[in-house]
Amino acid sequence: MLATFEAPDLQADAIDPAFRDDVLRGLADPIPSIPARWLYDRRGSELFDDITRLDEYYPTRTETALLTRIMPEIVAALRPGMAVVEFGAGSATKTPLLLGAIHPAAYVPIDISGDYLHESAAGVDKAFRFPVLPVVADFTKPIRLPAAIEAMPRLGFFPGSTIGNFVPRSATDLLRHFRATLGTGAKLLIGMDRVKPVDRLIAAYDDAAGVTAAFNLNLIERINRELSGTIPDGAFVHEARWNDMLGRIEMHLVATRNVAFTVEGTPFHFAQGSSIHTENSHKYGQRGSRLLLLAGGWTPLAEWSDPAGDFALILAEAQPNRFAP
Ligand code: AVJ
Repeated sequence: MLATFEAPDLQADAIDPAFRDDVLRGLADPIPSIPARWLYDRRGSELFDDITRLDEYYPTRTETALLTRIMPEIVAALRPGMAVVEFGAGSATKTPLLLGAIHPAAYVPIDISGDYLHESAAGVDKAFRFPVLPVVADFTKPIRLPAAIEAMPRLGFFPGSTIGNFVPRSATDLLRHFRATLGTGAKLLIGMDRVKPVDRLIAAYDDAAGVTAAFNLNLIERINRELSGTIPDGAFVHEARWNDMLGRIEMHLVATRNVAFTVEGTPFHFAQGSSIHTENSHKYGQRGSRLLLLAGGWTPLAEWSDPAGDFALILAEAQPNRFAP
């Protein structure tokens, strides 16, 4: 039962104006940066998939094992007949795990990319009997959910520590939008990566096999391909940095020499050692994760972690606003 709410697709070889604007604006910024979402084209998504299987990259396997172990407790904390609303197209392992245990009344994956959304939604639709209602939309904005789930209690699902990609101010906005989308009384199951020793964090984002480097450098190939960029081969290298003050891993593309290039005809100069900031991955301690949720309008109900304390899953609730303390 696949029904879709869809925005018109961009033509395959047309320039994505949002990509062009973000790149031209980001490269001209005093602190050059490009939003992380542009890392995830088809090649980038394949490379991220490879990352999740690396020895050094603990988050995916840790979260999956944790989810498996705590699933009975999650099910016990939920009402029957819920609609599961996933922010993102869904992972091939975590999503079926959740849906198979919860037996929801409906599943609504939300993703900006119609292609991935339909592929993964079709897979879920074949495996389960409940309605699958994909919504093509930007989940960083409030979304109107399908009318079919109007009467159902909702569970939002936001695994993978994707929240870590957003700076706290944007993460707070995002959580507030989730609340507006799902409504008062809804629950949210969210994955967050924990703070841990710097050497392990750096290894996870700068693996020995160079997969994360290829993932980061793919952005340069994408700029050259899609925006007629002239960035020379080898002009930039991957770097993962721990920013202790801001509690995050940063990915940068660092210039190996003074380099000049154009993007869509616009000239840029990068001095040797200067960088393009391409991704943030915020890490949260127990207090920080709960405070972030509260600031975004979600009251933490329960928190689970793996024995090593590497990764956390938190169940939270959109409680009604109270007038007084
Ligand atoms: C998909 C945002 C959760 O931050 O760990 C992995 C992305 N970047 N290695 C993360 C990523 C480099 C990943 N998230």
